[in-house]
Amino acid sequence: MGSLIIMWILLTVLTLSASHNIDSMIGSFITDMSSSLLVSSSFTAFFCADAVNTAEFSRQISRNYLLHRIASFNDSELIDIDETIDHNHYFIVDFDCEEGVEFLRKANTRGQFVAPAKWIILRDSRVNDGGFSQLMMEINDELVSLLSNFDIFPDSEVVVSQRLNQTTMELSALYRPSSGQSLIIEDLGTWSHEDGLCLCNYDQSSRRRVNLQGIVLNTSLVMTDLNTLNHLTDYQDKLIDAVTKASYMWILYLSERMNATFNFTVERTWGYKDEDGNWNGMIGLLDRGEINIGGTATFMISQRIGVVDYVQLYTPTGSRFLFRRPPLSYISNIFTLPFARSVWIAIVVFLVISFGFLCITMKWEWQNLKMIPMECRLGGDLERKPTITDNLLVLLGAAFQQGFYCEPRTISTRIVVLMMLLIALSLYAAYTANIVALLQSTADSIKTLDDLMNSPLKIGIFDIVYNRYYFGAFEDPVRKEFYERLVKDKPAVWMPLEEGIQRVREGLFAFHVDLGFGYQMMQETFEEVEKCGIEEIDYLKVYDPLLVIEKQSPFREIIRVGALWIAETGLKPRVASKFFTQKPICTGSTSFVSVGIIDCYVAIVAIIYGCAISFIVLLLENIWQRCVKTRSHDTVLHESSPEADRTSGKQSLRSDRVQDLLDNHFN
Ligand SMILES: *[C@@H]1O[C@H](CO)[C@@H](O)[C@H](O)[C@H]1NC(C)=O
Ligand SMILES: *[C@@H]1O[C@H](CO)[C@@H](O)[C@H](O)[C@H]1NC(C)=O
Ligand SMILES: *[C@@H]1O[C@H](CO)[C@@H](O)[C@H](O)[C@H]1NC(C)=O
Ligand SMILES: *[C@@H]1O[C@H](CO)[C@@H](O)[C@H](O)[C@H]1NC(C)=O
Ligand SMILES: *[C@@H]1O[C@H](CO)[C@@H](O)[C@H](O)[C@H]1NC(C)=O
Repeated sequence: MGSLIIMWILLTVLTLSASHNIDSMIGSFITDMSSSLLVSSSFTAFFCADAVNTAEFSRQISRNYLLHRIASFNDSELIDIDETIDHNHYFIVDFDCEEGVEFLRKANTRGQFVAPAKWIILRDSRVNDGGFSQLMMEINDELVSLLSNFDIFPDSEVVVSQRLNQTTMELSALYRPSSGQSLIIEDLGTWSHEDGLCLCNYDQSSRRRVNLQGIVLNTSLVMTDLNTLNHLTDYQDKLIDAVTKASYMWILYLSERMNATFNFTVERTWGYKDEDGNWNGMIGLLDRGEINIGGTATFMISQRIGVVDYVQLYTPTGSRFLFRRPPLSYISNIFTLPFARSVWIAIVVFLVISFGFLCITMKWEWQNLKMIPMECRLGGDLERKPTITDNLLVLLGAAFQQGFYCEPRTISTRIVVLMMLLIALSLYAAYTANIVALLQSTADSIKTLDDLMNSPLKIGIFDIVYNRYYFGAFEDPVRKEFYERLVKDKPAVWMPLEEGIQRVREGLFAFHVDLGFGYQMMQETFEEVEKCGIEEIDYLKVYDPLLVIEKQSPFREIIRVGALWIAETGLKPRVASKFFTQKPICTGSTSFVSVGIIDCYVAIVAIIYGCAISFIVLLLENIWQRCVKTRSHDTVLHESSPEADRTSGKQSLRSDRVQDLLDNHFN
């Protein structure tokens, strides 16, 4: 015990000049701060206490399950910690150490006060142990004057805790709205051993620091038409630069909320990467730090990630292929559609079976009729023995409802024929009803880019800078093929809005355009019926354009919260609904549909093929007939007397021969 006391005195004497002790109050304070205000479970502390004191402190912190490291000021490289954990980590500096000032300067030059780093600076304001306490930090205070030109911006978390007496700390947060502004000191509240943390305001710093004291932020608007400058807020010319105008309104709301002024410049493009890896346009300005916030929403694409930061203020307009559903007959053969495949198979099977029955029953029919003398026969009776083709004609006549020449007498034939007629009638009724509906219907089978590529639809693209840029920029097989087949080296696909929408109206045309523009134009020019069946296909497959800000911006959190606020308060939908026309509503599609040649295309093709085939058959028959004739003529000639007149004999022989053939055939 005695030796311990001696050692303690020794240590105190040895380290008296350089050390500043950390007591258990500091331990409790830091534990409370970790769990509530800073919400981090690990920290690095820079103390100048002696080893025993440090060990005691470390033990106390460990009992509260906090990861920590206690370093000396010489280890200043420890503040360059891994980025992946730093949102969960903070630093503590004892300002009463000799090296404290130098250390903070070093941290500032390394840019260590920017988000997401968090700092607690401990100060002891007790004049003596009697508990005499100073007032809150004054502007001419040593610490305040040190920090007053540090890069501590609204996103920084720098908390100064001043110890007023043995058990009480006073907390304040420091930041500057921008580099030109002076330090702002926020009173956070107090901590005392008995009552714990007592905060004046439980809001996050990004909500507390919305008032940026009128700083000037640089921003830029992208305009494809400079006349937009005259119509930024009057909702005119909604078909030009609507995204710019909508973003401008939101930026104005943001500026009011943040109490900041925006200094606008005008750019002509959003910004794309050139061969040297430099960005032009608005993204270029953000990349070079010339502007703080991009004034016009832009697409999120992978090359831009890491160059700028995106804020979740989406502009609800995408670019899509817009087209009217084409009539079904353009896409598929409507003549086979009324029946399902299985029904068609069943019909064929039925026809084959009934043909079999018909052949059998017709034979019996002839057996009966043969007995009846010619004079007693009726008009509908068979005149001669029915052949296979006769039966086929009867079958086709029944199936296609065309009627046939004979009128069967036997019961069995009548049953077969009646069955065929009845079934044909019901099939016919179902088929015709269905095909009328199909003629009026439109094809909803075009759903993907692949479908579009393989459909008879022609395409057009709205001629605007980002479409020109993005169309060829994709590497996936479908879009690459689409580009190479339909867009590349075809200047005719690029067209102005009016022309594209007019061709969509005429039908069989898909136009790639911003939805807001396209729908606005449709709303103005389409008839009610034409507003039905409008389809969209996404080619670019990107998110809606959204706001961008400079990377590592100190205002990021404030702008993000502001963007959420704009959406929550309804300011965003208000502006959006004024600028971006929604899809036109289809009010009933009851209209007269006229049937054109295209709708009967398959039937016409069938007729043409039929004619061609019958012509070929005719030719073949002729040829066959000629061959048979010459051969039979030769045989007949050999049989007949050589002195017979050649030509007349030929003539009479031919007619005899034909008569024989016919007789054989029909009997
Ligand atoms: C810190 O470094 C200085 C000089 O580099 C040295 O004199 C001093 O002893 C070091 N202090 C500690 C605590 O290591
Ligand atoms: C410490 O200071 C606070 C505020 O000035 C006071 O309320 C408290 O009583 C003091 N505590 C002690 C132990 O002096
Ligand atoms: C906005 O900032 C200006 C300039 O610092 C200041 O005078 C004004 O009071 C602030 N406005 C609000 C509403 O806080
Ligand atoms: C805005 O731009 C001006 C001149 O280009 C520059 O002096 C100023 O610092 C910029 N403002 C901010 C907040 O970066
Ligand atoms: C606004 O921007 C212009 C162009 O960048 C710059 O020359 C001017 O100084 C800026 N104004 C302010 C107040 O920052």
